[in-house]
Amino acid sequence: MRTITLKTAITETNIFVDLPFTEFKSIIKNKWIPNQVQYDNFSNIAIITDSNVRTIYGRHLSEYNVIELKPGEESKSLETVENIYRQLLDFEIDRHGFIIGIGGGVVCDITGFVASTFLRGVRFGFVASTLLAQVDASIGGKNGVNFLSYKNIVGTITQPEFVICDHAMLDTLLVQEYRCGLAEIVKSALAGNKDLFEMLEQNIDSINGKDKSILNKIILEAIKFKVSIVEQDEKDDGIRQILNFGHTFAHAIESKTGMSHGEAVAIGICKSAEISVKMGLLNNSEHERIKSLLKKFNLPIDMKLNFAELLPAISKDKKRKDEMINFILLKGIGEPIIHKFKSEELKKLI
Ligand SMILES: NC(=O)c1ccc[n+]([C@@H]2O[C@H](COP(=O)([O-])OP(=O)(O)OC[C@H]3O[C@@H](n4cnc5c(N)ncnc54)[C@H](O)[C@@H]3O)[C@@H](O)[C@H]2O)c1
Ligand SMILES: [Zn+2]
Repeated sequence: MRTITLKTAITETNIFVDLPFTEFKSIIKNKWIPNQVQYDNFSNIAIITDSNVRTIYGRHLSEYNVIELKPGEESKSLETVENIYRQLLDFEIDRHGFIIGIGGGVVCDITGFVASTFLRGVRFGFVASTLLAQVDASIGGKNGVNFLSYKNIVGTITQPEFVICDHAMLDTLLVQEYRCGLAEIVKSALAGNKDLFEMLEQNIDSINGKDKSILNKIILEAIKFKVSIVEQDEKDDGIRQILNFGHTFAHAIESKTGMSHGEAVAIGICKSAEISVKMGLLNNSEHERIKSLLKKFNLPIDMKLNFAELLPAISKDKKRKDEMINFILLKGIGEPIIHKFKSEELKKLI
C-alpha cells in the first residue's frame, strides 16, 4: 500500500493506493485520520453508491445507511442531489456526519457536491471503484452536476478527507469502462509526464491484461501527477487547466453524441494533437505515437462527425472566457501549452 497526501492551504487528503476498499471502515474509525470525531456509531454515516456497485460490493455495506443511485451520467443532476438531501434528512445525518461515495466518477462527483453543500458541508471520503475515478475523478476536489446542456456547470471545489484506490475492484469493471480510465491516464501523461507515456508504451499487454503490479505503478504515477498540479493551482486559475487536455472536444462530443467520457477524451486527445500539428507545435511522429498508443488500448481515435458542428458546443463550454476559447495544445509529449483561440480561428483549424 502507498499513501499520497494532497495538501492545500487548509486541507489534507490521504490517497491510499493498493489498499483493500473495505479498509474504509478502519479509516472511519480513525486509524489514519487522527484527532477527529469517532465513528463507532454507524448511524451518522451515509454511503452513496450506484446500483451496479451495490450489487457487486453491497454485502460489505450492510451495517450502513446506503443511498443508491441509478448508474450513469444522467444521474449527475440537481434532481438526484435533491433526492439525496431528502434521504440524508431521513437518515438524520447531522453536521458531525460522514458521507462516503463508493463508485465511479459519477458517484464521486455527486457525493462531493452533496457533502460540501448539505448542512453547509459535512465530512466526506471516496472509495474510487473505476480506473477513471482512481486516477482522475476522485482526486482534486472538483465535484458537481450537469445542468441544462452544460457539463459539470454547478459544483464546488472541496477536498475529500480520504480516497481509496483498490485495484481489485477493477476486476469487475467492464472492459469498456477500464479503457475509459486508460484514456485519462494517457491524457495525464501527455499533459506533463513523458515517463508515464513511455511506461504505457512499454507495457501495453500487461496493462490490457490488468496486471496488478504495472497497474499499481501507473495508477500511482497518474495520481502523483494530478496531485502535483492540484497543489499548485487548486482553484483552476492557471496550470490546472492543462488537465483539460482533450476535454474541450470531449465535452462537446459527449453532449452531442452521448458517447462515454473516456472514449470522447480519446478522440479529443487526437483532435487536439492534430490541431497542435497544424499549428506547427507538435511533430508528426509524436502525433502518430499518440494515436498508436490509444489504438493499442482499443480506444477510438476518430469518429464519423463533422467536427465543425461541435463549435457551438465548444463555445458554450464553461472554459470559454469572453470571446476567446482556452485550448490546451501540445508542443511535445508531456509538454502542454494553454492557447487562446478566437472562435473563427479554431473553426478554420477544425
Ligand atoms: N471531478 C473530476 O475531477 C472529474 C475528472 C474526470 C471525470 N469526472 C467525471 O467522472 C464521470 C465518469 O466517471 P466513470 O467513467 O467512473 O463513470 P461511472 O461512474 O458512470 O462508472 C462507469 C460504470 O461502471 C460501473 N462501475 C463502477 N465501479 C465498478 C466496479 N468496480 N465494477 C463494476 N462496475 C463498476 C458504474 O456503475 C457505471 O455503470 C463523468 O461524469 C466525468 O465528468 C470528474
Ligand atoms: Zn476527464
